[in-house]
Amino acid sequence: MKAAIIVSTVLGATAWAQDTFTNPLVYQDLPDLEVFRVGDAFYYSAGTMHLSPGATIMKSYDLVNWEMVGHSVPELAFGDDYYMNTTRTAYVGGIWASTLRYRESNGVFYWYGCIDFAQTHIFTASDPAGPWTQHPPLPDCYYDVGLLVDDDDTMYLAYGRYDINVVQLSEDGFSAVRDENVWSDQQTYLEGARFYHINNRYYIWLTRPADGQFVLVSDSPFGPYTRHEILNRMASPIPNAGTPHQGGIVDTPQGDWYYIGFLDAYPAGRMPVMAPLEWDSSGIPRIVTDSSGGWGLTYPVPAIEPAGTVVPTGEFSDDFGGAALHPEWQWNHNPDNSAWALGGEGLVLSTATVTDSLVLARNTLTHRVLGPKSGATFRINVGGMQDGDVSGVAILRDESSFIGLRKSGDSLALFTHHGIVLTEANDWQLTERGQEVATADVELGDVASGAQDIWLRIVADVHPTFGTSNNNNPATFHYSTDGETFTELGPALALHNRWQFFVAFRFGVFNFATTSLGGSIVVKEFDLQLVD
Ligand SMILES: *[C@@H]1O[C@H](CO)[C@@H](O)[C@H](O)[C@H]1NC(C)=O
Repeated sequence: MKAAIIVSTVLGATAWAQDTFTNPLVYQDLPDLEVFRVGDAFYYSAGTMHLSPGATIMKSYDLVNWEMVGHSVPELAFGDDYYMNTTRTAYVGGIWASTLRYRESNGVFYWYGCIDFAQTHIFTASDPAGPWTQHPPLPDCYYDVGLLVDDDDTMYLAYGRYDINVVQLSEDGFSAVRDENVWSDQQTYLEGARFYHINNRYYIWLTRPADGQFVLVSDSPFGPYTRHEILNRMASPIPNAGTPHQGGIVDTPQGDWYYIGFLDAYPAGRMPVMAPLEWDSSGIPRIVTDSSGGWGLTYPVPAIEPAGTVVPTGEFSDDFGGAALHPEWQWNHNPDNSAWALGGEGLVLSTATVTDSLVLARNTLTHRVLGPKSGATFRINVGGMQDGDVSGVAILRDESSFIGLRKSGDSLALFTHHGIVLTEANDWQLTERGQEVATADVELGDVASGAQDIWLRIVADVHPTFGTSNNNNPATFHYSTDGETFTELGPALALHNRWQFFVAFRFGVFNFATTSLGGSIVVKEFDLQLVD
């Protein structure tokens, strides 16, 4: 998937041999993106809804290899729903399309995002890895907001749907001083604004979800703007995935322009795809297509001499030996930080909730599924489980399943559970708790010694089936008591391809109580591998 730039030295001269990259750029759910450059480094910010921390940041030096380096929103401090400590959950709430840019004058990254159609929240940091600081929100909701830090250091926001507005921010960026409508068309639904100032012209990059891309162009930030079509139902480079759209554009230090959009590729989610841009004589960017006029599956890698290297996201292992969780991880809602810890043998997950359902339990740690098909294996020590505790490994979406263990007295039961459903008509609250579909006896030795490890694995085939009636990619459930020989347990879960939940299927590891708190598990290892 990743194309390395090959350096060849000929008679003392270094030549950059061009290779190609293949779309998607990253075979993971990374939607609603903003992409921008700071010197030699590129940054990519993605929306992450109810997951915490929120708004994943990736970094690259070549636009092709991307490493997850942080999150702009350390805690979704947007109300009790986000903590799962009330009767309501915040599934599909939280961070939708938001914006991240860098301000050179003070060396600060600014993140803005409207939450729950209420206020526009602001976070800043001098390093994407954090720490991030939360500021008092702007009182208005700037829907699908895009930030521009102009050449004269003035900051603007473009936002809206149908009606597109431009806001001028105060010098510190923490209040609005002017807000004007610059475009209105009730016939064409445009949203997902990104804002640029390129060669003395202002560009507001807008999508018509989920199959068109337009740009508004003006000589001044407040207009008047003219609208230009960038793409209209352009053929997708990936079978059974939608048209590339939304996202943003970025230039290389050498002055070449690229467009990174995303496409609906459920059950894999919304994956980024990149294409080169050319500019026509009237200053409108045009996508370089493949020979049949579609978005290319492959293009030459950008002609960049990378100033650094990254550890690209993809296959990923973790022994939880670091001082902090790797940015590849996000909790399902804000965690109870008193109930998890790193250090020693791994990640300790103490039960944080007494509940009868996985999707109501706090402190489930999640990881994106790697497409087109991957297996996630967690090695878990279950010696600290208490009577009534349920722990295990899940595949999570609006239809979730898991393979797990229940402690009853001194005995452990291993089982696969299907049919946990969150329903859109019920504002994505839990409507079906599901049922055990298979059980197995496991011999883990002396429970009281606390020395038992079990390996739980889910293999998920998320190759795109979007827009087709093939709604049945399998996810299968496996366990092992030695880490080598795995046994499948129970029927597969059919991974549906609907978009309405937005967040794609994720792997997760969990531990909740059904009677009382006090138990714990230790997650010792995680291993995510592509599977044929
Ligand atoms: C939920 O947790 C948050 C964060 O700790 C806290 O501010 C809030 O009061 C809690 N709500 C309830 C109902 O316990």
